[in-house]
Amino acid sequence: MQMIVRESRRRGKRIGLVPTMGFLHEGHKSLIQKAREVSDLVVVSIFVNPTQFAPNEDFDRYPRDMERDKAISESVGVDVLFTPGVEEMYPAGFSTYVVSEGMSSILEGKFRPTHFRGVATIVAKLFLIIQPDAAVFGQKDAQQCAVIKHMVRDLNFGVAIIAAPIVREDDGLAISSRNIYLSPEERNDAAILFYSLRKAEEMIRGGERYAAAVMREVEKIIRTKRTAMIDYVAVNDAESLTEISELQKEKPVLISLAVRFGKTRLIDNIIVQL
Ligand code: PAJ
Repeated sequence: MQMIVRESRRRGKRIGLVPTMGFLHEGHKSLIQKAREVSDLVVVSIFVNPTQFAPNEDFDRYPRDMERDKAISESVGVDVLFTPGVEEMYPAGFSTYVVSEGMSSILEGKFRPTHFRGVATIVAKLFLIIQPDAAVFGQKDAQQCAVIKHMVRDLNFGVAIIAAPIVREDDGLAISSRNIYLSPEERNDAAILFYSLRKAEEMIRGGERYAAAVMREVEKIIRTKRTAMIDYVAVNDAESLTEISELQKEKPVLISLAVRFGKTRLIDNIIVQL
């Protein structure tokens, strides 16, 4: 793998990386397409990263299907598939981590305190192994995008970070590998997430400026669904992720949420700019 990438770099080709945990779907495919547009050699990594899962989370049952992923990668023109093993990425005695302080302990970080340490560490390793010119991430994981952008700036990685739009099902549910865990009733109810986010956008476009009022309305809409249990609904500055109480013109805001449907925890978000 490294040989092909090194040789391409030597010949002046632009390398684009799409980091994934596999079980590829339309969301991943859209990132691969974006990488194609901005680079000559597209590298996709597939690695279910143990350090970003807490002991009580779904690392063991996270869906995996390498044969299918290989076929999909081939069909969408991925040039190099990087599929390291756990021992390769985390040799015995592994003890060095990348921590983005502050940003990692809010929003998702409150519910998953070690998650972004795992994400930043594995992404840093992938950047060092592959040395891409650009890497594409999904806006679906808005905080992940923000953490990675900060890490790249703080540690001078020199990798261009591209955030690609969220790909959704027909009813608006953001596509996710975890959607397969949902029962039919939960799957139906889960469409409320995007509906509530669009209502929030409508409210803001209609003149609402108080974040608290927007959050209250989103929560009220989600609570109409029997199987939904809200972890959080939040309004933050889209770049710095600082909390916002009153919205201002020209500053993009991130409205994000995490909601559990049975055992499945889903996240979604929308960016609104006036
Ligand atoms: P994974 O969940 O496999 O997602 C890989 C990439 O696909 C992420 O950048 C994610 O935001 C993006 N993605 C997922 N669903 C999407 C959708 N519906 N629309 C657009 N993009 C979508 O995120 C991870 O893996 C890991 O944390 C990783 C970055 C690979 C580090 O281990």
